[in-house]
Amino acid sequence: MQLVTERLVLREFASEDWEAVLRYQSDPLYLRYTPREERTEADARSLVSMFLRWREELPRYRYQVAIALRENGQLIGNCGIRGSASKSWEAELGYEIDSRYWGQGYASEAARAIVDFGFRELRLHRIWAHCIADNTGSARVMQKLGMRFEGRLYETEWMRERWWDLLLYALLDREWQPSHTN
Ligand SMILES: CC(C)(COP(=O)(O)OP(=O)(O)OC[C@H]1O[C@@H](n2cnc3c(N)ncnc32)[C@H](O)[C@@H]1OP(=O)(O)O)[C@@H](O)C(=O)NCCC(=O)NCCS
Repeated sequence: MQLVTERLVLREFASEDWEAVLRYQSDPLYLRYTPREERTEADARSLVSMFLRWREELPRYRYQVAIALRENGQLIGNCGIRGSASKSWEAELGYEIDSRYWGQGYASEAARAIVDFGFRELRLHRIWAHCIADNTGSARVMQKLGMRFEGRLYETEWMRERWWDLLLYALLDREWQPSHTN
């Protein structure tokens, strides 16, 4: 699977991508809303291996693809929609971008493309996503896609010695407007 947008190529992972993934996932800014305070080579290798395994699943419900710049092929993040056989009409959206490229609309551009793929190609009925409530940038990406705020889950995550709230957003196929910008 490959999707091309104005500035990005969303392509399948290759095993050697673990190095680029480790580079940006080691950044404390990236790690801020995760339970882990560091990433190892083993973590990055196992993450990329998992994405490669998902690629082989038949039927395939989980897509997690590398986000690369069209201009030079550099890997700057990843995004995906992850469904399951038990609820084949629904999938979870996720995205992440190398902090050196934040604030330039790349997550929104990539997420828009993968959501469009989910509704048009996979014929999904519902796509949902959640983020740590403090992660304003991530919530903003969901709002820019036109996703509906469905609720706040109070103190549902425990990490870094404290409770965290989650924000839940979702979108139905009939609500999807590919050109929506909020
Ligand atoms: C969340 C993340 C993917 C956003 O990537 P990005 O490429 O910077 O996103 P975009 O540029 O498309 O959009 C970000 C929006 O949030 C806004 N934003 C970012 N940080 C913000 C903050 N602290 N307060 C208010 N708005 C903020 C930006 O201004 C932008 O909105 P705008 O276009 O209206 O100006 C990126 O920060 C990231 O990878 N974080 C670490 C991993 C992660 O949290 N992933 C999501 C897990 S739920």
